[in-house]
Amino acid sequence: MKIVRSINNLKKIIKSFRNNNHVISLVPTMGNIHEGHLALVKKAKLMSTVCIVSIFINPTQFDQLYDFNNYPRSIKLDCKKLMFYNVDIVFIPSVLAMYPSGINNYTYMYVPNLSEILEGSKRLNHYKGVTTIVSKLFNLIQPNLAFFGEKDFQQLIIIKRMVHDMYYNIKIISVPIIREANGLAYSSRNILLSKDEYKIAHKFYLTLRDMADKLKNNIHCIVNLIKITTNQLEKIGFTVDSLYVLDSKYLTYINNSSTNIIILSAVWLGKIRLIDNIKVKIFK
Ligand code: PAJ
Repeated sequence: MKIVRSINNLKKIIKSFRNNNHVISLVPTMGNIHEGHLALVKKAKLMSTVCIVSIFINPTQFDQLYDFNNYPRSIKLDCKKLMFYNVDIVFIPSVLAMYPSGINNYTYMYVPNLSEILEGSKRLNHYKGVTTIVSKLFNLIQPNLAFFGEKDFQQLIIIKRMVHDMYYNIKIISVPIIREANGLAYSSRNILLSKDEYKIAHKFYLTLRDMADKLKNNIHCIVNLIKITTNQLEKIGFTVDSLYVLDSKYLTYINNSSTNIIILSAVWLGKIRLIDNIKVKIFK
């Protein structure tokens, strides 16, 4: 496994791979590698001949300096885990390498509308930062395949839109949410939870699961169900930031013909913001 930090080296190595007709996959991450990331890596390894994982804590997608400064960093352990899965290249660039003109007035990629709703309305400029860094990685690496998790469902939809609109010749492959045995979705931020917070964190998913079951039986009770679920979550100790029931294709409100529905939610547990989602198929 090669650990590459400079863009020049990356370009050289990729050039040699491309000349040998390899299928190149990219798994973009911000590190603190866990089972969720590794599920993307495993799939990427199966579908390609060269697997590149990027680790870059992208400053422009953080709306709060506190969150950026406290984001868990564990490069050594990350590389060990990735080596175990025979990743070919780990790309770990510096902020200066990825933002040569600085992060205050950077040239950006922006997907309108989708970037402003839901999570985008809570986290100003978050998706602008995400699409910018992902497009930079796409331009540098030009992978055949790129892998994203359904954990960040809105992010996945936005990246797909960007690829479609900008004619990137890259196939986006999505991977379902990977969870701990108790149901808690793996997330780099989970290790920031205190012991007591961690003990109740999985109840976020269990409560949404309960909501999903009720929704399957009666999709006409959405408004009520959102109220009930919000109360349940708050009783457990979460502060509900958002809870939506939407059509999963375009993240619009559901209508009579909607069959693929998604529950999307973000909650605060102390200082940590957790997100999760559950897809619900409605049979008519
Ligand atoms: P990060 O949070 O590190 O996640 C990297 C990828 O892993 C994303 O595609 C995310 O959806 C996926 N992922 C995280 N937890 C998962 C889980 N429990 N199950 C399945 N997939 C999971 O998302 C980002 O980084 C950044 O925004 C990035 C795309 C790298 C741009 O900076």
